[in-house]
Amino acid sequence: MAKQSRSPLTVLVLAAGKGTRMRSDTIKLLHEVAGRPMVAHVLEAARGLKPRRTITVVGHQADRVEQALTGESDAFVLQKEQRGTGHAVMQAAAELGKARRGTVLILNGDLPTLRTATLRRLVNRHQRSGAHMTLMSAVLDDATGYGRIVRDEKGGFQRIVEHKDADAAERQIPEINCGIYCARIDKLLPVLEKLRPDNAQGEYYITDAVHYMLERKGLVEAVCHDDAEEVLGVNNRAELARASVTLYGRHAAALQERGVTLLDASRTWIDPRARVGADTVIYPDVYIEGASKVGKHCVIRPGCRISGSTVGNGCEIKDHSVVLDSKIGNDAAVGPFAHLRPGTDLGAEVKIGNFVEIKKTRMGKGAKASHLSYLGDAEIGSGSNIGAGTITCNYDGVNKHRTELGAGVFIGSDTQLVAPVKLGKGAYVGAGSTVTQDVPAGALAVSRTKQTNIKGWVARKQKRRDKGSK
Ligand code: UD1
Ligand code: MG
Repeated sequence: MAKQSRSPLTVLVLAAGKGTRMRSDTIKLLHEVAGRPMVAHVLEAARGLKPRRTITVVGHQADRVEQALTGESDAFVLQKEQRGTGHAVMQAAAELGKARRGTVLILNGDLPTLRTATLRRLVNRHQRSGAHMTLMSAVLDDATGYGRIVRDEKGGFQRIVEHKDADAAERQIPEINCGIYCARIDKLLPVLEKLRPDNAQGEYYITDAVHYMLERKGLVEAVCHDDAEEVLGVNNRAELARASVTLYGRHAAALQERGVTLLDASRTWIDPRARVGADTVIYPDVYIEGASKVGKHCVIRPGCRISGSTVGNGCEIKDHSVVLDSKIGNDAAVGPFAHLRPGTDLGAEVKIGNFVEIKKTRMGKGAKASHLSYLGDAEIGSGSNIGAGTITCNYDGVNKHRTELGAGVFIGSDTQLVAPVKLGKGAYVGAGSTVTQDVPAGALAVSRTKQTNIKGWVARKQKRRDKGSK
């Protein structure tokens, strides 16, 4: 038994099924829960155990599942035809055979809210007891559809009966099989060969393996988990939504614990992979997606979306701003209604105001674009000021071109910078100019036409109009 407790762990995730109850062109396991395909959460929880190896059984939309799990699963096994959960495990027999002794943790792929700690307890118990298999169960108010745990009068585990195969009395049982199993590889492999599809669904059930283990006088235990919500499979869209709420809620609570203020945690959606520093205040209806990082002492005002981005310390992202794959330096201010597209890199103390769109552009320390501008494919030197309505004309219909501004450049309002173009350090551009040539450092560029005032024009126009109306 001491040997078992140190036996290496292999994780096997079953992810070949379609999941018809989702009524979707996309298989169930690829539907996102808290910003990631649900099966990725299962792998993540399992990897927390530091297993020697993780194997995923794929079938429906195998390419997409493999892509979604790049870097998460060590190996993939193809189940060409989906003939049941037992059949799925059988496809991995050769891979498991390589490990020979050890423990395998088999997981349904539709359990996105599983916690590592829960799995660890199950594995520890299994390895200590020396059972052939230890599976997790839960008690539900409505157990319809699930496999039920049948126990003898002393409470000992007897078997699992699928809902479709159960009689009326068995369907009253509230204890269900969660689809989380720990088994000794040396005891599982021989019984896999015995599985037969003689049941209501004509499938090979992994749950039948336990019957054969009991026949061989092996110990099989069902451990009831008290937080049913955590160990329930997602089978339809309602359960999908619930699982997201659970994961976002957990992460929100963890952030609060670390000193983040969420004005209304139930209306803040922060990806479990995202990090937020202490003393940052987040208003409702904010989405922080992917592995974004928001620093300390920031304020994120209502309605913002920050995706795949890094925000420094002391920043303010004002209402309804969108920040995508961008970097924002310390003490910068963005918005309201700003749109930072991929490749935006703002230095410290930069100020971006309302209705400013920025793409693939770096702005040096303290540069400002306060109103109504588009800056694309540009380099803006530190301390430069971009006047209202400035547009970089970066696209000629075929190619994109760059605009480069040195430090301390002043661009008057309503200017077009026709790229490729360079403006030297400290250059000025008069308002309303169309800049088509480079501007040397320290020079003033003005390209608008000279103003003429026509005296008395309004009165003469009025007179003509009055004559016409008689
Ligand atoms: C299964 C269990 C049931 C349990 C329930 C918990 C069996 C026979 N039944 O039923 O006792 O209460 O989970 O949610 O195991 N899969 C494959 N290949 C297949 C079929 C399924 O890889 O051929 C994968 C699916 O992608 C999914 C998992 O196995 O991740 C479970 O499949 P699902 O169809 O959801 O099983 P249930 O009918 O819910
Ligand atoms: Mg299921």
